[in-house]
Amino acid sequence: MEIRKIFVVGSGLMGSGIAQTALQYGYEVILNDQSKAALERGQAGISARLDRLVEKGKMTAEEKEDCMSRLTITPSVHTASNVDLVIEAIYENLDAKRAIFQQLDKICDDRTIFASNTSSISMTSLAAATARPEKVVGLHFFSPVPVMGLVEIVYGLRTSQETIDIVTAVGQHMGKRTILAKDKPGFIVNRMLLPMLNEAVQVLDEDIGSVEDVDEGMMRGCNHPMGPLALGDLVGLDVCLAIMDTLYAETHDPKYRAALLLRKMVRGGLLGRKTGKGFYDYSK
Ligand code: CAA
Repeated sequence: MEIRKIFVVGSGLMGSGIAQTALQYGYEVILNDQSKAALERGQAGISARLDRLVEKGKMTAEEKEDCMSRLTITPSVHTASNVDLVIEAIYENLDAKRAIFQQLDKICDDRTIFASNTSSISMTSLAAATARPEKVVGLHFFSPVPVMGLVEIVYGLRTSQETIDIVTAVGQHMGKRTILAKDKPGFIVNRMLLPMLNEAVQVLDEDIGSVEDVDEGMMRGCNHPMGPLALGDLVGLDVCLAIMDTLYAETHDPKYRAALLLRKMVRGGLLGRKTGKGFYDYSK
């Protein structure tokens, strides 16, 4: 089956990044969010980022207009009735994601594949919310989506090989390398990345080094493109905490216990870039 029309649920950092990338690679995209303000922010962000590509000579003004002409924004899920692929990219909450899949299952055509950009929630459990578990799969992008060259494909207990093949082709068509992961907590990348980010917060909490020195340590000492605390701010500290809590809840292994400072930051509304303050101040 050829994928042409994609319905992206959630117009935040990940959803709008996925929508932008899909547009750049020729797909027709419907971007959906229950918040009209978030939809408008998502659309404006896509337009501004494409404008920057035009300024840098990486895209022509006509190509940008062509991308924008293939984008529809809507607060209604009913426009998903005739899409080939749904990519859900809302916040990390099992009940909320299951509710969306349950609703879309009744609206979408039988052929439609349901993908989730979840960072850690079980695909098998999301698939069980639908009557099409063989067509439910994880399509995990990395932030910033237009820049990062990887998509992690996660197969649940009942995901079919055909579904895996179709979404692998989509990921590759979007210019990404794909890796295949079994449905186990954290999949491949976050199983390794999040404990490292969590440990960086622990190092800070134990006063071993300053925010800047923790980050400098990993940037200069290990050639990471950005430090773990800055990366946590980019991903969102609420997302980091949700992933750590899932890892811990699913395994009961103390090595996945979230750092108390991470939990306190989230309780205090310091979520990183999206709230203007996390380990760094982005308000200026
Ligand atoms: N959207 C689109 N493009 C962006 C962008 C964004 N948000 N941020 C940066 N870019 C582009 C810039 O325009 C620039 O493009 P050109 O080379 O064409 O000019 C390019 O990225 C490099 O940007 P900068 O020069 O401004 O900055 P940089 O060289 O420091 O790179 C970075 C920025 C790409 C974010 C880099 O620091 C990096 O790779 N950091 C690590 C990111 C990472 O680890 N992401 C994974 C997070 S984990 C995750 O997402 C999964 C999860 O489930 C938690």
